[in-house]
Amino acid sequence: MATMKALTIKEKGGAPVLIERPIPFVRPTYMLVKVAAVGLNPADALCLDYGMNVPGHMMGCDWAGTVVEVGEDVTRDFKPGERVAGMCRSAEPFRDDVGCFSEYAVVKADLALHIPDSMPFTDAAALGVAVVTTGRCLFDTFNIPYPVVSPEGKLSPPTSTAPQQILIYGGSTSMGTLTTQFAKLAGLHVLTTSSPTNHAMVKSLSNPDFIVDHYSPSAPAELLAESQRLTPTHGPLRMCMDTISSASSAVFCCKVLNPSAMPPGLDTPVEWVPAHVESDLTYSTIGPLTPPLPGIQTKRRIGFSFLGEEWAMLGPVQPANVGDFERSRAFAVVAERCLAGGLVKPHVIEVQEGGLEAIPGGIERYRKGLVSGRKLVYVV
Ligand SMILES: NC(=O)c1ccc[n+]([C@@H]2O[C@H](COP(=O)([O-])OP(=O)(O)OC[C@H]3O[C@@H](n4cnc5c(N)ncnc54)[C@H](OP(=O)(O)O)[C@@H]3O)[C@@H](O)[C@H]2O)c1
Repeated sequence: MATMKALTIKEKGGAPVLIERPIPFVRPTYMLVKVAAVGLNPADALCLDYGMNVPGHMMGCDWAGTVVEVGEDVTRDFKPGERVAGMCRSAEPFRDDVGCFSEYAVVKADLALHIPDSMPFTDAAALGVAVVTTGRCLFDTFNIPYPVVSPEGKLSPPTSTAPQQILIYGGSTSMGTLTTQFAKLAGLHVLTTSSPTNHAMVKSLSNPDFIVDHYSPSAPAELLAESQRLTPTHGPLRMCMDTISSASSAVFCCKVLNPSAMPPGLDTPVEWVPAHVESDLTYSTIGPLTPPLPGIQTKRRIGFSFLGEEWAMLGPVQPANVGDFERSRAFAVVAERCLAGGLVKPHVIEVQEGGLEAIPGGIERYRKGLVSGRKLVYVV
């Protein structure tokens, strides 16, 4: 039996270690990829900290590599030898062969992206999770039509005639730079936030229309003033996507989106399933737990559901969501065309030495909050 190196934990709460394990077999809707580079996500640290990883199970979400074998039920066109990138779910509880911190990975093929010839694997390893999440948490949450892009990557003008504004909180995250680029392609006017040290990076990579320092006490008031200045031409601010999705970021977003309401306190109990609130103000959260926001409809989407399979995270098993999968597959095609045309670019990367063995050190940097304005990437 052919084997490979893969990262796993040996016991609950233990640090990741490299093991030798069988190369996973290809399931019908999956493909086998020889991994060339992997990217780290905050989720890699969070899953370990919340005890979600299962001993012996593979780990890692963001990968880039070369197709080796394609499952018989894959609907999109992938061939052995092609350069591709994408996402896996991390800390999969039901199977031990899902993950990409390994020499080979089996990946849900229909959500993968062909990589442009000019893009190195290391850059492409920053794309997978952020692309799929942008599709669901930006476009689908706010019912924004996907950009219309030809297979060669030529963009048609946005179909929407009325300009609209959106607040994207956390513009320097890997989610933030990608979501902002896609929001601009869709014709939205983007207000965003980051640390001042990342303003130049955010402006050059994703070109938002307005940016403030999210740690400044005056930031919500500055955003509010700008959104009110835009209201006569763009309509009121009704959409907010929070790429941090913590209690404090939710409170910040509430102050800008619904300034007349009393924002929740930082000690307000968080909720897993947001209650329905009748409102034309929508808050898109990508974290599992944020407090309820007064007068605002919260929509939460978690990447684990995008694969269209049964999933679980810190709670009961959730049924397969075929709609989530089909929308994610449709958006992967749009994103692939945008990449081909150079319309969107991956997040800034920092390539780390040491391959798979060095990944635990990178996870530690995420755990300590030491990663700012970049994604740590490892060559495999
Ligand atoms: N629902 C999903 O499926 C899904 C998918 C992807 C990610 N996520 C979640 O989304 C979050 C972002 O992921 P990512 O990979 O994009 O992160 P990332 O790129 O690793 O984020 C790093 C950035 O976070 C910013 N940051 C940290 N704390 C902040 C705070 N309190 N307020 C504002 N900014 C803060 C820092 O910005 P500055 O240095 O500029 O301050 C830093 O540049 C994570 O919590 C992740 O788990 C969820």
